[in-house]
Amino acid sequence: MRTDFPSWMTAHQSRFEDVLQSLLPQAVIAPERLHQAMRYSVLDGGKRVRPLLAFAAGELAGADVLRVNIAAAAVELIHAYSLVHDDMPCMDDDVLRRGKPTCHVQYDEATALLVGDSLQSLAFQLLAEHELCDDPARQLSMIRLLAEASGSRGMAGGQAIDLESVGKQLALPELEFMHIHKTGALIRASVLLGAQCGNASPDQLERLDHFGKCVGLAFQVVDDVLDASEDTATLGKTAGKDAESNKPTYVTLLGMQEARKMAESLHLGALEALSEFGESALRLRELADFIVLRKF
Ligand code: IPE
Ligand code: IPE
Ligand code: MG
Ligand code: MG
Ligand code: MG
Repeated sequence: MRTDFPSWMTAHQSRFEDVLQSLLPQAVIAPERLHQAMRYSVLDGGKRVRPLLAFAAGELAGADVLRVNIAAAAVELIHAYSLVHDDMPCMDDDVLRRGKPTCHVQYDEATALLVGDSLQSLAFQLLAEHELCDDPARQLSMIRLLAEASGSRGMAGGQAIDLESVGKQLALPELEFMHIHKTGALIRASVLLGAQCGNASPDQLERLDHFGKCVGLAFQVVDDVLDASEDTATLGKTAGKDAESNKPTYVTLLGMQEARKMAESLHLGALEALSEFGESALRLRELADFIVLRKF
């Protein structure tokens, strides 16, 4: 019998914490301070939504969980790097992340920069070191997928647009383009990488791709909503930061109510993309619900 969703989620989160612990360089290995800061930024915090999406897609595709562990870790390391850099004074200038002082506050700016660099390198090192699937050509395409999702045509590109957009009123398609890149790309990659560790057919991958795009955009719409509606203690990061920094968001463009409706319609789109999967997509459906209904 299947466990309920909260138990499934907690079990994977705690198992995955051990995976990350063992894949990150030990804090006693030189350069100790950099390794401590990497561990500080990755371990003990975060919802692990991207790894959970990879595990759920991997379950759907019959993947070996030991393989998905590596894909999930690579995505989470890229995500953690993006957060460390996102919080730096040259970007969002935030002091609180995951309920703790941000990396540059706890350590220093140069260390935070190097933590991001090193986490990104480690992510790709893991994908090159471990067997992720039976077909080496597919493995190469998986590495490429994560590179694209992370780089200038993915997360980093979205972050560039985010910074250029401060103080500007964007049109809805421009805002969508920014969100799809800065957040959607890595979430989409999480789903596809998990599925490609297993044996998803091209047709299944196409439907999962659509699912990933919907939940990826929904994730950032909800992040915008939460920034404007929840408090700092709940979020574990400074609330109200988007308005304070004059960032265009779904809330500033559409208003709170329409932004919430937008998230709900993306939620429905995500569920629709899974409609032909039946029981095997249960965890992905539950994750879509979680992403849209979460309060932090
Ligand atoms: C925050 O991501 C940054 C965005 C891309 C919106 P998460 O909300 O997944 O942050 P953690 O990993 O749970 O801390
Ligand atoms: C961040 O978007 C997206 C990233 C690629 C890190 P935000 O700047 O809105 O994320 P938070 O709100 O600081 O977590
Ligand atoms: Mg930002
Ligand atoms: Mg930020
Ligand atoms: Mg935000």
